Amino acid sequence: MPKLNENYLNLKESYLFSEIAHRVNAYTAAHPDKKVIRLGIGDVTLPIGSEVISQLHKGVDALSKAETFKGYGPEQGYDFLREAIVSYYQQNGVAIEANEVFVSDGAKSDTGNITDLFDKDNIILIPDPVYPVYVDTNIMNGRHITYIDATIENNFLPMPDHNSHADIIYICSPNNPTGAAYNKEQLKEWVDYALANNAVILYDSAYECFITDPSLPRSIFAIEGAKKCAIEFCSLSKTAGFTGTRCGYTIVPMNLKFTTSNGSNLSINAMWNRRQTTKFNGVSYIVQKGAAAVFSPEGMAQCKKNIQYYQGNAQIIADSLAKKGIRYFGGVNSPYIWFECPNQMDSWEFFDYLLNHAQVVGTPGAGFGKNGQKFFRLTSFGNHENTIEAMKRMESLF
Ligand code: MLT
Repeated sequence: MPKLNENYLNLKESYLFSEIAHRVNAYTAAHPDKKVIRLGIGDVTLPIGSEVISQLHKGVDALSKAETFKGYGPEQGYDFLREAIVSYYQQNGVAIEANEVFVSDGAKSDTGNITDLFDKDNIILIPDPVYPVYVDTNIMNGRHITYIDATIENNFLPMPDHNSHADIIYICSPNNPTGAAYNKEQLKEWVDYALANNAVILYDSAYECFITDPSLPRSIFAIEGAKKCAIEFCSLSKTAGFTGTRCGYTIVPMNLKFTTSNGSNLSINAMWNRRQTTKFNGVSYIVQKGAAAVFSPEGMAQCKKNIQYYQGNAQIIADSLAKKGIRYFGGVNSPYIWFECPNQMDSWEFFDYLLNHAQVVGTPGAGFGKNGQKFFRLTSFGNHENTIEAMKRMESLF
């Protein structure tokens, strides 16, 4: 009989968004006549821009001819996409090299898979509340997690405690779920802390395309010293509507090296390359053709248009909450609006209340950690009409 990985027993019974889907499916089965509006999981609703679509078609056509057919591609991604990502960083004032870019099927997989590179015995700092993948994947590996509180008092942007040591630090900015975003000075403090502690920062920048304040960093590599202590994860899910198409990328700097127990230097880039070439066969050529078009001037202009549409939704949600005197956060440099549950309700209680009385689905803050107990998250990724309708329904309840 196999011995099981019993760390799984330490997980919540189901993944946050699976639990939500389960509750919503049960509700719709029992009330087939009700129109449910889903503003829970951050899933895009607008179609992908025509520039990307046309390149996806070209990718398909290439496979139909012997001269252009593609079989296995490079596990790290095709050069044309890695170079396009390098140029995108350059436009944002950040210099990276193509061999530091690893194309993948998304930031969710990579933020989970990166745990392969680190020993079980590390001091791992994870903010609370947080994207549950960081927590669950570490629990699956039997790791102990130290949480740092993200609260109203620190504007949901916890800063390092210089009196305590950490080895691995998770940062998501703009943050999922709170919408808070670190400025350069704050990130510099984290980078300095990581360098002083010989720690690594796992930086999730999946929502960088929502940053509207030009003074905010879109990449941790905009911060001096970060290439010696950080790995960055990004995704086209929210930038380009690829939640279903699947494509993301992870930047692992060449300068990122740590010392092994026998005193030799190990390159994290080489380790990640070894991991990916062994366990991953790359993203399909078709998807990478489409992904490269995201970074073309026309492709990016179309993505930005969609992002502006979602930002309009964020404003609608924010205005409605403000009208009702509900304290909210985020929604400006982020697609998420994080607010206090009305009437002191707990977040799952509010989830059920909203579903049953307004047929609106959101995400309970408790799903992101104990500090989310009294909070709720709405996404701006819905369609415009549904967002207006959802907020009208919600307003009528309070
Ligand atoms: C969310 O709703 O938090 C995200 O869409 C989840 C994800 O990106 O995996």
